[in-house]
Amino acid sequence: MTKNVLILGASGSIARIVVQNLLAQVGADITKLTLLVRHPQKLAGLDLANRGVQVVQADVLNTDHLATIMAGQSLVYGNLYGADLGQQAASVVKAMHQAQVRRLIWISANGVYGEIPGAYGRWNQAMLGSTLTAYADATKVVEASQLDYTLIRPAWFQDEPEVDYEMTFKGEAFKGTEISRQSVADLVEKLIHDPEQLIGESVGISKPNTAGPAPRWYS
Ligand SMILES: NC(=O)c1ccc[n+]([C@@H]2O[C@H](COP(=O)([O-])OP(=O)(O)OC[C@H]3O[C@@H](n4cnc5c(N)ncnc54)[C@H](OP(=O)(O)O)[C@@H]3O)[C@@H](O)[C@H]2O)c1
Repeated sequence: MTKNVLILGASGSIARIVVQNLLAQVGADITKLTLLVRHPQKLAGLDLANRGVQVVQADVLNTDHLATIMAGQSLVYGNLYGADLGQQAASVVKAMHQAQVRRLIWISANGVYGEIPGAYGRWNQAMLGSTLTAYADATKVVEASQLDYTLIRPAWFQDEPEVDYEMTFKGEAFKGTEISRQSVADLVEKLIHDPEQLIGESVGISKPNTAGPAPRWYS
């Protein structure tokens, strides 16, 4: 079956790991991998010399351009960031509806529902400030989209060479304070490999046994 995957913000720190790990599957599990970036030079270091890999330069806020890029895609993975994240999400959702693409994986952040109890919840809110509002705005847009979405709400990123995570679901208290980028990428890759998993879910993701008042490197 044809599987065309579009990554938005492909130069982002998580997306780069996902791209690196997916490259070997292009031509096998993945038919075509399209990498949307604003600055193609930020993909330097990735070996993209594969006929099934395409780099497109675009801004997701340009909905009409985005809809043309979406045409024929099977799955969209949004790895975006910015104070205007809510607007970015609205443009992505609109373009997906225009292009009749249904499956969306979206990276959000822990704390968007006020789901983190205790001192870490307060610390996270103070540290993220208005950024948390931007993540929450985008989360609401995705949840209202009527698309087949999966929202991922990670704890604070670290770069340990490990895949070690547990998930919490919407309505549950968030656990833990940190997560390796490799772990977030692993979950994204699993969903790209098996897109029927976690449809309509919003999952928190963190490293087990990392509860505390802040990520350990801030304590
Ligand atoms: N750091 C943490 O501890 C942490 C924890 C939880 C969640 N998160 C969030 O998880 C998400 C993924 O993380 P990450 O580290 O991979 O993100 P990242 O490195 O900040 O990458 C974000 C990407 O979005 C792109 N982008 C922003 N606005 C765009 C637009 N209008 N059109 C097209 N592309 C646009 C950026 O492109 P440019 O390079 O052109 O700007 C960049 O490639 C982010 O939202 C991040 O904030 C982070």
